Amino acid sequence: MKRRPLIAGNWKMHKTVPETLAYIEAFKPLVAGVEDRDIMLAPPFTSLDAAERALEGTNIKLGAQNCHWADEGAFTGEISPKMLADIGVTYVIIGHSERRHIFGETDEMIRKKIEAVLKYELVPIICIGETLEEREEGKTLKVLETQLKEGLQGFSSSDLKDLVVAYEPVWAIGTGKTATPEQAEEAHAFVRKILAEMFNQEFADGVRILYGGSVKPENVVGLMARPNIDGALVGGASLKPDTFAKIVCFGR
Ligand code: G3H
Repeated sequence: MKRRPLIAGNWKMHKTVPETLAYIEAFKPLVAGVEDRDIMLAPPFTSLDAAERALEGTNIKLGAQNCHWADEGAFTGEISPKMLADIGVTYVIIGHSERRHIFGETDEMIRKKIEAVLKYELVPIICIGETLEEREEGKTLKVLETQLKEGLQGFSSSDLKDLVVAYEPVWAIGTGKTATPEQAEEAHAFVRKILAEMFNQEFADGVRILYGGSVKPENVVGLMARPNIDGALVGGASLKPDTFAKIVCFGR
């Protein structure tokens, strides 16, 4: 089944508002006219509003890197999906490995965040992936299955109709070590099989599964050639407009 590719840039904790605006100014013409794939930029919260204005009328969608699950309340330092929807965000990255491992996010928190994001018709990008230790112990597939089953528990396939899954092996994030296309394909095919078991085959066939972990212009083509790899979630290489544009424009 042909799925529309999604190339997503996650800036993590990088760029001020002026830096964001300068990036977008440079990036827009490099990807103008790219209509056969989706493009997303996820700047830090402080840049979202300015980015939304700068991206108006372009083929580039806005993503947030995280959110809380409540609409509002006494949650100092948190941002709600209601606030993100209000300023024109389309996608929300949920359960990134840095959130799981540095900030202690659990599968239950991730499930609540997905529910909250869906309430505001935002598109969740749920991140899953094994650590190096888990891979070496042969637990990769079990870890992916648990993260999917716990994070997506209680939803129906219609609730999750736009769901995006990002497979990001923790050992490949920011390390320069990319999973081989074979390793990534094995994980992606497994994710799709689990989604088919949890929901149904038609639903699983429609879900976009992104690969993340040291994606660069040099390796994106090999990854994207695999049948179950539908896009990329790019960290470091999304920070420079020309480098990210090369990844976005793979194969063109
Ligand atoms: O969200 C992006 C991933 O964490 C990948 O980051 O491309 O710097 O390895 P990276």
